[in-house]
Amino acid sequence: MNKQANTVFPINELAKNRWSPRAFLDKAVETDKLISLFEAARWSASGGNEQPWRFIVGQNHDETWQNIFSTLAEGNREWNEHVPVLILAVGYKISSWDGGISGYFQYDTGQAVAHMTIEAMNQGLYVHQMGGFSPEKACELFDIPDTCQPLTVIAAGYIGDALTLTEKLKQRELQERTRKTLSEIVFSGKFGETAPFINNI
Ligand SMILES: Cc1cc2nc3c(=O)[nH]c(=O)nc-3n(C[C@H](O)[C@H](O)[C@H](O)COP(=O)(O)O)c2cc1C
Repeated sequence: MNKQANTVFPINELAKNRWSPRAFLDKAVETDKLISLFEAARWSASGGNEQPWRFIVGQNHDETWQNIFSTLAEGNREWNEHVPVLILAVGYKISSWDGGISGYFQYDTGQAVAHMTIEAMNQGLYVHQMGGFSPEKACELFDIPDTCQPLTVIAAGYIGDALTLTEKLKQRELQERTRKTLSEIVFSGKFGETAPFINNI
């Protein structure tokens, strides 16, 4: 299925073709491709180069996969049963700068996952991030220390056929992708004032 972004201006092909599917093939992901996802995340930028991202990876219904799966909200479990790779993204909270809580660990970890998402496209894979999971349960199951915070679960694999989904999920899968306009998000002068170069086009 093609849910290419209907861009008003040209962007790179990987970003244009990226979207978050719910139908994945029940097919293992090759190790070298999987490693590239983490390599891309590793080379992401971060505040003070603190690299606060950590990842716990489960594959093909192994014990780690089952534990990550068990943390998912019901609505997410519904479509993750056949996803070959589940990744728990964890942020390390403490700043080495002053030992306090970093102001950037969530931002940085999200950015690393964004890099992973684009690399997935480069490897012929798709990812779907999820906030619908229990961080408390994840901490318990994986002995995650207080210095860290589970942030998202990421489904990864080859894209599957939307027709294999339940009726309700199929509707969501086929839904049109929408975005705010550039004039709503790009400002200059004061916050909320659309940048003239956006307005003039
Ligand atoms: C932080 C975050 C949390 C999300 N949580 C969920 C979730 O729990 N379940 C789900 O089905 N999708 C989830 N999504 C996917 C979004 O719904 C999706 O990215 C958004 O609708 C835009 O669609 P697109 O990624 O296909 O462009 C999440 C995405 C992000 C970035």
